[in-house]
Amino acid sequence: MPLMPRGCSVAEFRLETDRLTLREWTDADRDGAWAMAQDPEVMRYLPVLDRAGSDAMVDRMIAMQAAHGHTFWVMERRADGQYIGMCGMSPPREPLVEYEIGWRLARAAWGHGYAQEAARATLDWAWANRDMPTIVAITVADNQRSWGLMARLGMAHHRNEDFEHPSLPPGHPLRPHILYRIHRPFE
Ligand SMILES: CC(C)(COP(=O)(O)OP(=O)(O)OC[C@H]1O[C@@H](n2cnc3c(N)ncnc32)[C@H](O)[C@@H]1OP(=O)(O)O)[C@@H](O)C(=O)NCCC(=O)NCCS
Repeated sequence: MPLMPRGCSVAEFRLETDRLTLREWTDADRDGAWAMAQDPEVMRYLPVLDRAGSDAMVDRMIAMQAAHGHTFWVMERRADGQYIGMCGMSPPREPLVEYEIGWRLARAAWGHGYAQEAARATLDWAWANRDMPTIVAITVADNQRSWGLMARLGMAHHRNEDFEHPSLPPGHPLRPHILYRIHRPFE
């Protein structure tokens, strides 16, 4: 029986916050993911995705949920049920050795605090339901909106752990990554 994080209710891997639902992916979400993948502003600091790549990402999200009980969940606005992006947590993935929190919102959903609300719910869920001591977040140095959110969440930049992402070739502008970390709060 999962523990109930403060401020959220959990039912069959749905997390609810004041304004958002974080939930598992379904095939019906593929079009929403593809719409975001075609927006150059959303993808400015992310590797280009074609339709097959976007669908493969959804497949990985579904598989991650099945294998680990969490993923980068679909983010829905409760007021209208609109798909507005994704936020959640992955288990350690190469080259990381710690759990990773991450987010991606449709452009129209930026600037409302939705990413922060979803990220706080993800952290609360993680501390309440898993036993990892730390969670990291990574992005490219120019992605100020993303590292600004990391800082707002209380994550600290560990400059000595910034790294070149091995999934991109040397010299690729998105290869240099910065790493932020947050520690499990004291009980
Ligand atoms: C990174 C990203 C998720 C950040 O989204 P965001 O909306 O800027 O982040 P937050 O949820 O923290 O919202 C903060 C903004 O909402 C505003 N806001 C409005 N209402 C708010 C509320 N109730 N609570 C908090 N902030 C609120 C804040 O003032 C701030 O505005 P500002 O950007 O004008 O300063 C978004 O830019 C994105 O999806 N980018 C593209 C994908 C990407 O790069 N992902 C990261 C890959 S590593």
